[in-house]
Amino acid sequence: MASVELHDVGKKYGSAEVISNMNLSIDDGSFTVFVGPSGCGKSTLLRMIAGLEPITAGAININGVRVNDKDPIERGVAMVFQNYALYPHMTVRKNIGFSLRMAGLSKDEIDTLVTQAASTLQIEPLLDRKPAQLSGGQRQRVAIGRAIVRDPEVFLFDEPLSNLDAELRVSMRLEIAKLHRRLGATMIYVTHDQTEAMTLADKIVVLRDGVVEQVGTPEELYDHPNNEFVAGFIGSPRMNFLSAQVSNRQIKLRDGTVLSVDGLGDHSGDVQLGVRPEHVQIGSSNKMADLKVDVVENLGGTRYLYGTLSNGTALIVEARDTPGIKAGDTVPLEFPTERLHVFDQHGQNLTRPAKP
Ligand SMILES: Nc1ncnc2c1ncn2[C@@H]1O[C@H](COP(=O)(O)OP(=O)(O)OP(=O)(O)O)[C@@H](O)[C@H]1O
Ligand SMILES: [Mg+2]
Repeated sequence: MASVELHDVGKKYGSAEVISNMNLSIDDGSFTVFVGPSGCGKSTLLRMIAGLEPITAGAININGVRVNDKDPIERGVAMVFQNYALYPHMTVRKNIGFSLRMAGLSKDEIDTLVTQAASTLQIEPLLDRKPAQLSGGQRQRVAIGRAIVRDPEVFLFDEPLSNLDAELRVSMRLEIAKLHRRLGATMIYVTHDQTEAMTLADKIVVLRDGVVEQVGTPEELYDHPNNEFVAGFIGSPRMNFLSAQVSNRQIKLRDGTVLSVDGLGDHSGDVQLGVRPEHVQIGSSNKMADLKVDVVENLGGTRYLYGTLSNGTALIVEARDTPGIKAGDTVPLEFPTERLHVFDQHGQNLTRPAKP
């Protein structure tokens, strides 16, 4: 197990800066997930921690030791790639044992470690097959097995499940959570998948254009996003945003509806009101807006209404307990004020509680 610290880390490719002044502290034994739009620098960060890509500014410490100039092999990290990168001509056994052979271990030692890893991952019957004879999920296990045998202090996963179908993703996600609990190793995991991020992470790091937007537990990010970007990125379907105006501690929506929200202070001017689809309520006792339903997406257990307000704003509403709503209907909406977020002109969340 090991902690990982980034101090003012920067990365440039030529003159293009892809990571700037990054400071991050990853606890020993924790599960940290990096999320962010394509191209924001997630893979670059992992590769820099692994030592596969040099950094151009700052320092990376693993377990308190500066590793800037250390080779990947000396850092005690193992990386699992999205495309698995297995050797096609080698059996599963040889693939998993490859790094051990390179490190000069004896055949017996290699056999013991490979068998142990295969047992952890339940792939013992596959040891003599080649990668082409495996399913996607089985290949994924072999790739993880290759990382496990090295007994790394830090596992780095770059979108390891994105090539799998939905069902296999769910079962492999659970396997990775169990593996983390069993091994107790520090894990850093990149994903595009909201559910993976929310369910696996002790901490989520939200990145944008090579900069950290917010670090926190999944609950913190979901309940108290710092800004509009994080609010829109965490949660699926994404948070709705409505243009509004604040004055005298009240919010006026474009259609004239007035709401009172705590935490606005003396702020006045244009804002964006944020409300998650699952927090909008359907009901007329305290009606705040009407939604003209354009599309109903039925997911079995729940339903999403895609529609527009009278002022033309698009809105998504989760309709869990109200069956029978169909496209073309108009439904009354309520916005529970304790679940609303208000973002100022700079995108900062005015309703986020101040840090203690
Ligand atoms: N070898 C390279 N030379 C020049 N630019 C690069 C190189 N590798 C990556 N980049 C650029 O650095 C930025 C970050 O890339 P990176 O692969 O880290 O993004 P990412 O967050 O992993 O994206 P994705 O979600 O699509 O995998 C991108 O703008 C990319 O074009
Ligand atoms: Mg990437």
